[in-house]
Amino acid sequence: MPALADAPRVPAVVFPIPAHLLDKEGRMFTVRALAPADRPALEQFYDNFDPKRAAQGLPPMGLARIQRWLDGVLPNGSHLVVERDGAIVGHAMLLPTERPGVNEYAIFLAQEVRGQGVGTQVNRVSVELARTLDLRGLWLSVEPLNRPALRSYEKAGFRFVPGTIYSPEIEMEMAL
Ligand SMILES: CC(C)(COP(=O)(O)OP(=O)(O)OC[C@H]1O[C@@H](n2cnc3c(N)ncnc32)[C@H](O)[C@@H]1OP(=O)(O)O)[C@@H](O)C(=O)NCCC(=O)NCCS
Repeated sequence: MPALADAPRVPAVVFPIPAHLLDKEGRMFTVRALAPADRPALEQFYDNFDPKRAAQGLPPMGLARIQRWLDGVLPNGSHLVVERDGAIVGHAMLLPTERPGVNEYAIFLAQEVRGQGVGTQVNRVSVELARTLDLRGLWLSVEPLNRPALRSYEKAGFRFVPGTIYSPEIEMEMAL
């Protein structure tokens, strides 16, 4: 058996989750799978989310609408939460689409963790998760004025769908 130092090097990947990562200021956050016990905290996260309905009408306004929306999305696809200091500060999801093997990607971060490189890293973890799930592609739509979203998606490897760049909702996709 070769010594550890001689063993083939395994490329560093952010998977498997939980992934313990650092934001641009060196503060730790964790990306992990959503657990059933997270539901009340996730509802609270979306109830506190500001501004509401800023990303294509999501998250919905009011706890009852948030609960209905979560009832619809949580049973499907794969869900990650972002945790900092024991609190949920983000939610990323991969949701099935009509195209076999292609999931829609969406991410929501609490205001206090935005603009610190967290979204870009969560996007990358989500892409790794999609690869682990043997998906063949990811797709998303985003409003053209949402610069942080556009940039964080580009940095994680999404590319613009030709013909949508001047649309009210830009589409981006990635082959896996
Ligand atoms: C969109 C979102 C996930 C991005 O995550 P984030 O952690 O804020 O973004 P990052 O810090 O990783 O920044 C990504 C890039 O956008 C840039 N950026 C961040 N905030 C910006 C701003 N307000 N204006 C312009 N560019 C900005 C960053 O500079 C970075 O690029 P760089 O590394 O080349 O400098 C997050 O802001 C969010 O949850 N927003 C509210 C919900 C939402 O819009 N979700 C997307 C729905 S489609």
